[in-house]
Amino acid sequence: MKTEFLRITGRPEEDDEVIRRAAEVIRRGGLAAIPTETVYGLAGSALLPDSAAKIYAAKGRPADNPLIVHVAYPEETERIAFTNPVYFRLAERFMPGPLTVILKKRDCIPDTVTAGGDTVAVRCPSHPTAHRLIEVSGHPIAAPSANRSGSPSPTTAEHVRQDLDGLIDLIVDGGPCSIGLESTVIRLDGEDACTVLRPGAVTPAMLGEIVPEVRVAGAVVQPALADGVRPESPGMKYKHYAPRAELILIDAPREWFADYVRRNLSADAGVMVPDELADSFPGAVLLSTGPDGDAEEWSRRLFSLLRQADEAGLKRIYAELPPPEGDTLALYNRIIRAAGCRVLTPDGFKNL
Ligand code: TXA
Ligand code: MG
Repeated sequence: MKTEFLRITGRPEEDDEVIRRAAEVIRRGGLAAIPTETVYGLAGSALLPDSAAKIYAAKGRPADNPLIVHVAYPEETERIAFTNPVYFRLAERFMPGPLTVILKKRDCIPDTVTAGGDTVAVRCPSHPTAHRLIEVSGHPIAAPSANRSGSPSPTTAEHVRQDLDGLIDLIVDGGPCSIGLESTVIRLDGEDACTVLRPGAVTPAMLGEIVPEVRVAGAVVQPALADGVRPESPGMKYKHYAPRAELILIDAPREWFADYVRRNLSADAGVMVPDELADSFPGAVLLSTGPDGDAEEWSRRLFSLLRQADEAGLKRIYAELPPPEGDTLALYNRIIRAAGCRVLTPDGFKNL
């Protein structure tokens, strides 16, 4: 298949035409990769069973991992799922934006979208291109991250091209994603509680402003579950986001980290560090995470840095382990998976 490339330029008439073309692809059952504020999504109609099948095939995604359905407005969720007052309280505060809520699905959502389950994950993206596309196509849109299953999620159209060129109808280039990590996925537990199944830019503390009790699922901070176990959010089971390079995550004081890396550094290794530490590793390939302590910037860059390391042919990447809490919880969740859930401490390697 020949994949068409179209760019969002900021010129309204041209952009309307791009969105019209993408909407046409969706309506006739094809697939278009589109920018969202989190990561690029591989979009197909959530109403057509065949579109979901095509998404799984293009991504090489296991069929037991359900897709997120995107709506243009939080109220539209009512058409595809059974909503409730907590959903609307959350929607008022966090939608449009990087929050996905699991709800009981209605019959119009085919089983292929939900991997046979009776729930559907719903999100209302804030990215103007994604928003307009859903609106113009008139279909709710099923969209997983637009990467081949297992590789880091794409945060630029070029990343999508690397993974899916020739496998999908269209790639819409809307520039780099502003958040860079996938949305927060939550399950509602009655009126007063919810559980974070996948952490994202909407943190447990932020959710706590709306829902009294916020739990974090064990799988968020623990290793990918063993094969054969069905976790609640199946996407957390797979070895994810892994670069080809070996990622060595170091859980130690900064001096120990710097010392260890300097002693072990070779020409085919890179160091993922904040700008302030760049001078500590003369001659090393640096993968900059941005200003020290800037969790948002590191999050925005993480997937791009992992791809960059592979493009540079690096065999090893050294990085500091971020704390599993607060505004680095999502980063922690992704980076431990990229490292195969193994960290290096002053006492040696440890499996999480
Ligand atoms: O930011 C995002 O969420 C991006 C953009 C494109 O919107 N999408 C995304 O989709 O990350 P995907 O398919 O790569 O990840 C969806 C996650 C998976 O971990 C999946 O298992 C979980 O959401 N999920 C989807 N439907 C679910 C359901 N009904 N119940 C539990 N987990 C579900
Ligand atoms: Mg994904």
